[in-house]
Amino acid sequence: MTIISDDDNKKFKHAKNEDTSSKEISYDMSFETNIRPKCFNDYIGQTGLKSTLKISIEASKKRELPLDHILFYGPPGLGKTTLASVIAAEMNSNIKITSAPSLERPRDIIGILMSLKSGDILFIDEIHRLNKISEEILYPAMEDFYLDMTTGKSQTLKSIRIPIPKFTLIGATTKAGSLSGPLRDRFGIIHRLEFYTDEELTKVIKRTAGILNIEINEEGAKSIAKRSRGTPRIANRLVKRVRDYAIVEADGLIDSKTAEKALDILQIDKFGLDNTDRSLLNIIAEKYNGGPVGIETLATALGEDVKTIEDVYEPYLVQKGFIQRTPRGRRLTPYACKCFNISDINIQQQLFD
Ligand code: ADE
Repeated sequence: MTIISDDDNKKFKHAKNEDTSSKEISYDMSFETNIRPKCFNDYIGQTGLKSTLKISIEASKKRELPLDHILFYGPPGLGKTTLASVIAAEMNSNIKITSAPSLERPRDIIGILMSLKSGDILFIDEIHRLNKISEEILYPAMEDFYLDMTTGKSQTLKSIRIPIPKFTLIGATTKAGSLSGPLRDRFGIIHRLEFYTDEELTKVIKRTAGILNIEINEEGAKSIAKRSRGTPRIANRLVKRVRDYAIVEADGLIDSKTAEKALDILQIDKFGLDNTDRSLLNIIAEKYNGGPVGIETLATALGEDVKTIEDVYEPYLVQKGFIQRTPRGRRLTPYACKCFNISDINIQQQLFD
């Protein structure tokens, strides 16, 4: 399997002296590529999704047809790109990895579609950010594997159809709701990635530690897992930070005591919340009496943008049962009051009304 990412495309474009300044790099591949699972056997978690995908892959191999187009959605860091690479490996296919903001001009998407070979997988991250023109180029490509192009000028304008190889598009988004209906309808498989359980994250951490030669015991891995907000990308980042602490302040081994001390220093609490999460909860509690408060107001008070709150912070806070989304805005839950000792009588009154 060959993986070609935006970064590789950039190097290529640079060699041809093309302007790449307006492009975004979709992913820092280096560290993650190293520890990224290569096949379903290595991939921990998302069990329901894995079973569905295994059947689809098997069927597509037997029918000798490409896999249906797949849409993955869910919060960042849960392994959408990783899963796309695993699918490519299991299909013995090549994968091209890009992201919607890199496909600004029609020629970007046309170029990538024309470079595909039969059976290739095209992965487009942040697919909800695809512009209308690029999206419309994708429709016939996804549905019937051709590109609709025009040649000539005004009176001699002619529409031609260029066939392209049969490929599979895997789209990923943190915002399934922002995808247009026609685009969403062209995916045969649509799946949400779930937050990982502590047990699954413990396995991810032990696997990563094994690859990176980090000394860790079961209890140490569990302690990190509990504070990784259900997200393997965070677990893998924390294990490296805790490793540094273990080397400097202990004997190098990550056990639960070392892990907990290191995570306390990093100000990640027992629920996996960091300073920003706690500020968000505090603002709702103190400034807005427990809510409801509109997302825009909350973003201004917190000094973060709305998208970051919606995509990064909120999903986990909602999943943990600390905040609720209501038509009138976000509000704290009675459970959050209990966990964070919020005893203000006004808030309690509002929340239990
Ligand atoms: N590293 C990141 N995500 C992973 C997963 N789902 N399984 C194993 N290792 C991982």
